[in-house]
Amino acid sequence: MDLYEAIKTRKSVRRFQNLPVEESTVNKILGAARLAPSANNSQEWRFVIVRNPETRKALADAASRQDFVAEAPVVIVCCAETEGEVMRNGLLRYPVDVTLAIDHLMLAAAAEGLGTCWVGAFNPGRVKAILDIPKGVEVVAVLPLGYPEYPDPQDKNRLPLDRIVYSESWK
Ligand SMILES: Cc1cc2nc3c(=O)[nH]c(=O)nc-3n(C[C@H](O)[C@H](O)[C@H](O)COP(=O)(O)O)c2cc1C
Repeated sequence: MDLYEAIKTRKSVRRFQNLPVEESTVNKILGAARLAPSANNSQEWRFVIVRNPETRKALADAASRQDFVAEAPVVIVCCAETEGEVMRNGLLRYPVDVTLAIDHLMLAAAAEGLGTCWVGAFNPGRVKAILDIPKGVEVVAVLPLGYPEYPDPQDKNRLPLDRIVYSESWK
């Protein structure tokens, strides 16, 4: 699948088939995440791969009881090993870097016919406790991964280009 096709077909998936995802496929998409750019090539991203059904259920509970998290055969908990570095532009570095890796991962998953959904509504303390995540590691996203149950027929609801792009200055 070409890149634009993957970008167009990626959608948040919240219903998954009861089908396993091969370890080699998971590794392939993690390999795409690994190639993302990061500030100063710091590569703070870390991923915890969860297949255990009880752990998936605990993660779903910690994610505001979003049950679909547990229904996916794999949950990738996307983290940052960080000392909270701030870039010269004033932004925290790790959320930017890890988000880029996650986007690579989601697009690679789409190219493999897999569905993901970025889940940001979670209790970080609970997620850390469930996975024994140490101090100095932050949880950025919980990402269920699996083969989609239904292709979502809806078009992407996005602002038009002329609403989001300015030419030469903000005026
Ligand atoms: C930072 C972030 C947090 C999100 N948190 C959740 C969430 O907790 N639960 C959920 O179902 N979807 C969540 N989403 C998915 C968005 O709702 C979804 O990306 C958006 O509606 C656009 O739809 P699409 O991904 O299908 O293009 C999150 C997405 C992002 C980027």
